[in-house]
Amino acid sequence: MGIFSAKNHLNEHMLPEIIPGHVAIIMDGNGRWAKKRGLPRTAGHSKGVKTFEDVIEMCFTAGVNTVTTYAFSTENWKRPESEVKYILKLLDEYLDICVEKCLKKGIRLRIIGDRSVFSEKMIEKMDTSEQKTAHLRYNLNVAVNYGSRAEICHAVNQLISEGKTNISENDIASRLYTCEVGDPDLIIRTGGELRLSNFLMWQAAYSEFYFTDTYWPDFGKKDLYKAFAKYAKTNRRFGGL
Ligand code: IPE
Ligand code: IPE
Ligand code: MG
Repeated sequence: MGIFSAKNHLNEHMLPEIIPGHVAIIMDGNGRWAKKRGLPRTAGHSKGVKTFEDVIEMCFTAGVNTVTTYAFSTENWKRPESEVKYILKLLDEYLDICVEKCLKKGIRLRIIGDRSVFSEKMIEKMDTSEQKTAHLRYNLNVAVNYGSRAEICHAVNQLISEGKTNISENDIASRLYTCEVGDPDLIIRTGGELRLSNFLMWQAAYSEFYFTDTYWPDFGKKDLYKAFAKYAKTNRRFGGL
């Protein structure tokens, strides 16, 4: 039994023996989910938050230690202003609820990405959310205004400002937003696209991938367990034999 119980209590007999320690999720397909139902794209984002809550709980219950989710990319600013505003408002509102849940469940929350573009109030809220949960054991990373290229550039610029002239892989890894939680074992992408869309490119060097056509708002226990089952069967060689 993991740390969670309540409504998403899982039948553990369905779980494979090997569970990924760190799962990253590209939560894609909210807009298409809504369109299919004749709803505005924003309805898909709202439903997506509910799915986020449920899936996070399922992951930790199953024995996962770290979950990293992609909520808003550095490229998502290209969308109509009204949609961007809606997504950011959802994030802002959900943050308080998320912190409460994390505190109850023993999860350390980190908001990863470049937060400098947000309002002072929002930055403060992100900072305090992280501080409140900083002592907890499990990890939930939510990527907001996150882009892998920007993250790597940021890491390199930091190293330059420290006076480094010869940069190692470890130097870069230690300046990434994920430096404390390491690389994902499994990356799940919903919504049918087979790409990373600028998510964890450095960290994904030896990650396993699971792609599904299921739109994020429809993603559930069955899909998650399928991903885990496939992961459990893979032979991870890391270049060895
Ligand atoms: C993912 O769903 C959520 C964000 C990128 C914020 P989308 O909004 O990309 O939904 P689709 O891919 O257009 O269906
Ligand atoms: C990736 O989805 C970003 C998030 C899920 C937050 P996108 O919908 O932005 O990716 P593309 O545009 O299809 O590559
Ligand atoms: Mg999309």
